[in-house]
Amino acid sequence: METIAVATQNKRVGKTSSTVNLGAALALAGQRVLVVDLDPQAQAGTALGRHLSGGDQRARSLGWAIQCRLQGVRPDVSEFWFDRSELVAGFGGAGSLHLLACEESTMNAVREVIHRKGYCATPVLRRMLAEVASDFDFTLIDTPSAVPSLSATAFAAADGVITVCVPEYASLKGAAVTRAAVRHVKDRTGGECDPRYLGAIVNRSHPPSAREGQEVDFREAMRDAGLDPFPADIRLDRRIGDSFALGVPAAIRFAEQAPGRMYGNLLGQVLARMRRCREGQGVPVRTGE
Ligand SMILES: Nc1ncnc2c1ncn2[C@@H]1O[C@H](COP(=O)(O)OP(=O)(O)OP(=O)(O)O)[C@@H](O)[C@H]1O
Ligand SMILES: [Mg+2]
Repeated sequence: METIAVATQNKRVGKTSSTVNLGAALALAGQRVLVVDLDPQAQAGTALGRHLSGGDQRARSLGWAIQCRLQGVRPDVSEFWFDRSELVAGFGGAGSLHLLACEESTMNAVREVIHRKGYCATPVLRRMLAEVASDFDFTLIDTPSAVPSLSATAFAAADGVITVCVPEYASLKGAAVTRAAVRHVKDRTGGECDPRYLGAIVNRSHPPSAREGQEVDFREAMRDAGLDPFPADIRLDRRIGDSFALGVPAAIRFAEQAPGRMYGNLLGQVLARMRRCREGQGVPVRTGE
């Protein structure tokens, strides 16, 4: 199983959309996929049509499972996930799609505990996922913006980390903070966790005709900031936002149209970079992929 975390300090740039659509594209390509929602806002669950509210649903939440584990109890992770494979069922050869769903109060409690215990507590999710590694080919983790303890937990669980920018200079800084944080994970976890930075998604981009030279500079600024943008960006597309609200990722609803093609292209580049990192070649910079 390979694990990818999607993170940046900035809000509303498309972390959740990127996570669920890349997960959907992987499932459509025949892979067994687990989406992990570490954001107390629980948006990945919404985007996959399974939103946990409080009450007795807390006991099915990832936050509850992590709390148990932090207290030394080993919950059976498979009892917590939701099978969302019905979303890709109509596609021949599709794989599977599961969700470890978040619920606000339990994940906020996790945030507090990890914040108190410090970096030594951050490998908790990695250890839980290791127990179900044979059930999945890929795990994608959605993270909150600006909650350092939960981002650190996602980085510790990840083999690769992707950040997300929108074509505005203000979004570079949050992504650069993420990239810098990834470099320190190995030291901070005593060598147990060693994620690689894979690159930055340019989300909500405009077509070349509308860029008027601006975005060329933006991509250049991303490279100068060491963010290694993926060549395939994700355009501003209403179908992506609408699908989020309907609980079925655009990469599935519009698999044969632009959203499906955009996420498919991006996925190919993400996997290629993961392969290069595994083989010790690192991420290509400035050259073609
Ligand atoms: N390429 C796109 N085209 C159109 N709408 C998009 C696109 N990407 C994301 N959106 C919409 O923008 C909003 C923010 O996206 P999303 O929730 O994925 O961002 P986020 O970074 O996860 O936000 P948060 O910081 O709240 O977790 C959502 O309503 C989503 O549907
Ligand atoms: Mg989000």
